[in-house]
Amino acid sequence: MLPIQRDFRFDLPRSRVGSWHGCGAHVSHFFNAMSVFFPVGERYFIASVRAHRGKIKDETLDAEIRSFIGQEAMHGREHEDYNRLLAQAGFPVQKLERRVARLLKFTQAITPASWQLASTIALEHFTAILADRLLGDDALLRDSVEPFRDLWLWHSIEETEHKAVAYDVWQQAVGRGAGAYVLRAGGMVVTGAFFVSMIAAFSAEMIESDPALKGKRGGYLQLLKFLLGRGGLVRSGFPAWLDYFRPSFHPWQHDNRALLKKLDQIEQRVNRVEFAKAA
Ligand SMILES: [Fe+2]
Ligand SMILES: [Fe+2]
Repeated sequence: MLPIQRDFRFDLPRSRVGSWHGCGAHVSHFFNAMSVFFPVGERYFIASVRAHRGKIKDETLDAEIRSFIGQEAMHGREHEDYNRLLAQAGFPVQKLERRVARLLKFTQAITPASWQLASTIALEHFTAILADRLLGDDALLRDSVEPFRDLWLWHSIEETEHKAVAYDVWQQAVGRGAGAYVLRAGGMVVTGAFFVSMIAAFSAEMIESDPALKGKRGGYLQLLKFLLGRGGLVRSGFPAWLDYFRPSFHPWQHDNRALLKKLDQIEQRVNRVEFAKAA
């Protein structure tokens, strides 16, 4: 699959940035915390893949890498705008972003390129699962403010399109043998532990910094239900996460291309917004 770069813009309403999700502000801040990761994180993914590009002899994969880089750059741009709104609304985005940047810079300084690619494919597996769940279950973004929902759906579509690109680079550049497996699985354990604990901490910091949520502890229960309840994001995504540890794993063993047709809905709305602005 050749990923397609789409130059979409999302007119996110600033007044709703702290509370745009249909399940309330706590769930909104969980997604906002993930948004904090994306601009710096996606630059790291691009660098990790680029570092191995010289070893790729396959022209198709090289074209896919180009599209992958284009897509991640666009995601970075839109999430930067999103994060700017969060900062303007008084959320501690810059402080959190600096923490991610420091960690990734440190990783780049002390680990080999293969480890950086191992952490990239691990994180791409997380984004592929998130994307599959958001596209596959309408309930997870139901009653959310449209431009925010559209941004997450657009990002999900492109993450699905390119979910195997970094992985294919891994297989061609690092290999498929026992050594590559140990590094890939170890990369998931370490990267996963950092990612999950940082998302939890960042979500809590965003929530605690929101003056509108003072004393509203019930929202935490709602967030737990959203993540771990029946059909919850983490609960329903967990089996797919485990698949990663099979030695023969490949992202397209889970063929979810059918979900890409959701793009039609977004395109209609994005075009409508642009049309309305021009008029
Ligand atoms: Fe992305
Ligand atoms: Fe990605």
